[in-house]
Amino acid sequence: MTALLEVDELTVAYQGRRRLFRATPPSIRAVNGVSLTLDRRRTFGLVGESGSGKSSLARALLQLVPVSSGSILLDGRDVTVVPRSELREYRSRVQAVLQDPYSSLNQAHDVSVIVGDPITVHRGIKAGAGRDDLVVELLAEVGLDAAFLHRRPAQMSGGQRQRVSLARALAVQPDLIIADEATSALDVSIQSQVINLLRRVQREEGVALLVIAHDLEVVRHMSDDVGVMYLGSLAESGPADEVYRDPTHPYTAMLVASIPAPDPVEQAARRAHRRRITVDAEPPSPAALPAGCPYANRCPLVLERCHSEPPPTVPAWHGGTVRCHLHVTGPELGGAGVSELLADAAPRTA
Ligand SMILES: Nc1ncnc2c1ncn2[C@@H]1O[C@H](COP(=O)(O)OP(=O)(O)OP(=O)(O)O)[C@@H](O)[C@H]1O
Ligand code: SF4
Ligand SMILES: [Mg+2]
Repeated sequence: MTALLEVDELTVAYQGRRRLFRATPPSIRAVNGVSLTLDRRRTFGLVGESGSGKSSLARALLQLVPVSSGSILLDGRDVTVVPRSELREYRSRVQAVLQDPYSSLNQAHDVSVIVGDPITVHRGIKAGAGRDDLVVELLAEVGLDAAFLHRRPAQMSGGQRQRVSLARALAVQPDLIIADEATSALDVSIQSQVINLLRRVQREEGVALLVIAHDLEVVRHMSDDVGVMYLGSLAESGPADEVYRDPTHPYTAMLVASIPAPDPVEQAARRAHRRRITVDAEPPSPAALPAGCPYANRCPLVLERCHSEPPPTVPAWHGGTVRCHLHVTGPELGGAGVSELLADAAPRTA
């Protein structure tokens, strides 16, 4: 069976701001040649520091920003080249739950319209009692009772609005839901409720879920597979538990070492380890990407060629991929974990 969504060498570039005395503003490559596969009925988590291009990738998948190059195949069909008239079908199959439901829900309407209108567009059921019944069913699915049918976004809490966003996404029976920081604006106590709701709905409705979150533990908890982005590139991807347990990319190792440990002694050890395996330097600007590996100026294992040659993407031990020269040259890791090399790495400064 073909994958639900296959992304191949996807690049998203934004035109930067015009500067004084510069004829053409620099272009920002927010996503730079990313390839990944989303399988049906599975959850793929995307992690990476702020500005690494996670939302830009999500926006490209939602067809909200133009794709500069590469392809997005849904069921084998490239959506970057389909006529606009057919985009509507794609858009209904790929839905979003975004960070700020207040701005993405129409303030002027109540839930019967916010969740009901997509039912009309998708299933041709006109507004009325029958459609309201379906909205109430969807509300029950996301843990809200029928009293919410006539509430507007301003009359709900952040968690309730996020539940309505999810009900609206489910209204068109999508194949994929993209949740970009869907819980980060919520109170901590509400976050886990919405996370558990997303997990349950993903399982019960059999949709695929692309989850983007800053919290690495949340992503691990939710995901079957994970992708690690750094400066627009996919540094590593593979089964979530395996990638977290024994990363193959030095950047993934640094991210994993930054997960807080509940025990203070372990936390202190983890912090010291993280300091050892990271070069304290700013990431390069996405408007001036380096010629070689984007992580070269922060990598404690950097090789000479890392500064000039982009690393290839190769298979990793966990069945996923890693984009790093160490796996083809130098110590020739051949897709194995980097922990031992990092344990021996001499601390470096930029
Ligand atoms: N509309 C835009 N115009 C110009 N540059 C943009 C635009 N949107 C994002 N960028 C830039 O593209 C890069 C990637 O941004 P993006 O929002 O995709 O990152 P992110 O990984 O989602 O970050 P965060 O974790 O903070 O949400 C950043 O350098 C950002 O400044
Ligand atoms: S390619 Fe080189 S600089 Fe980049 S992560 Fe691998 S070893 Fe480090
Ligand atoms: Mg983002």
